Amino acid sequence: MRLAHKDILGLEEMTAGEILLILDTADSMKEILTRTIKKVPTLRGRSLCTLFYEASTRTRTSFELAAKYMSADTVSVATTTSSVQKGETLKDTAMNIEAMGVDVVVMRHPVSGSCHFLSRLLKASVINAGDGMHEHPTQGLLDLFTMREKKGQIQDLEVAIVGDIYHSRVARSNIWGLTKLGAKVRVCGPQTLMPPDIEKLGVKAYTDLDRALDGADVVNVLRLQKERQGKGLFPSAREYAMLFGVTPARLRAAKKDVLLMHPGPMNRGVEISSDAADSGNSAILEQVTNGVAVRMAILYLLLGGADA
Ligand code: CP
Repeated sequence: MRLAHKDILGLEEMTAGEILLILDTADSMKEILTRTIKKVPTLRGRSLCTLFYEASTRTRTSFELAAKYMSADTVSVATTTSSVQKGETLKDTAMNIEAMGVDVVVMRHPVSGSCHFLSRLLKASVINAGDGMHEHPTQGLLDLFTMREKKGQIQDLEVAIVGDIYHSRVARSNIWGLTKLGAKVRVCGPQTLMPPDIEKLGVKAYTDLDRALDGADVVNVLRLQKERQGKGLFPSAREYAMLFGVTPARLRAAKKDVLLMHPGPMNRGVEISSDAADSGNSAILEQVTNGVAVRMAILYLLLGGADA
């Protein structure tokens, strides 16, 4: 089985079969990460460019490592040091990168839909590394991979996604992926950070954290996106932490073996307390490791596939 498209733009466009293909392929890739010499020749001669218009630690680094572990060549265009500073458009920047022979462009951009725009423009594969408030599909996939690895299956899992749902591309990718694989999804946050029609996506919406966490198998905590907040959406970070901050005490409402997740970067003491983030229930650093395996799987399926 192959992926249907040349690009990874969102989990909304993917079938359950494609999602499972990526997760199953990532299982094999994870074994490579346990080796002392983490290098296979699978993508020798292929090249990847990361093009980030927003900051990133995990996504960009893990894409670059994933490509290097599979022997692909990587280059990185940081908009702060590129000709974007001289006013070059996204279209011109991307077409110039493709003209240098790049096979995959991994882009993060503050505008929703910008990766779709790029995918129509380029013959190269485009991977969405986060577009505005729309989707962050590779984060969604690594979250699904981590849940399946830790809980054995996704079907019928009770998953609570907590925090700034409105601004969160991670929440949207999680919701699409989890519902396609049969999980039961609850979202929880202040009414002002809850999209009005969110229940149309097949989730239950809560504004009470204790009710949302009741009996949950997995709690995925979202970063409070200070950079995307309008004025007056919540009174203060202190009040947000009191009402929606995930702590060991609040987690007592969930199942005893609850899996605690966060995509990073964390605002410790705001949406998640340090003692929760560093507890035995936390899979936060395992998510990061799994992100490399999932991105290796995606690059393999887009560039190498069965012919590699
Ligand atoms: N989770 C995530 O996207 O992290 P970065 O912003 O560091 O890439």
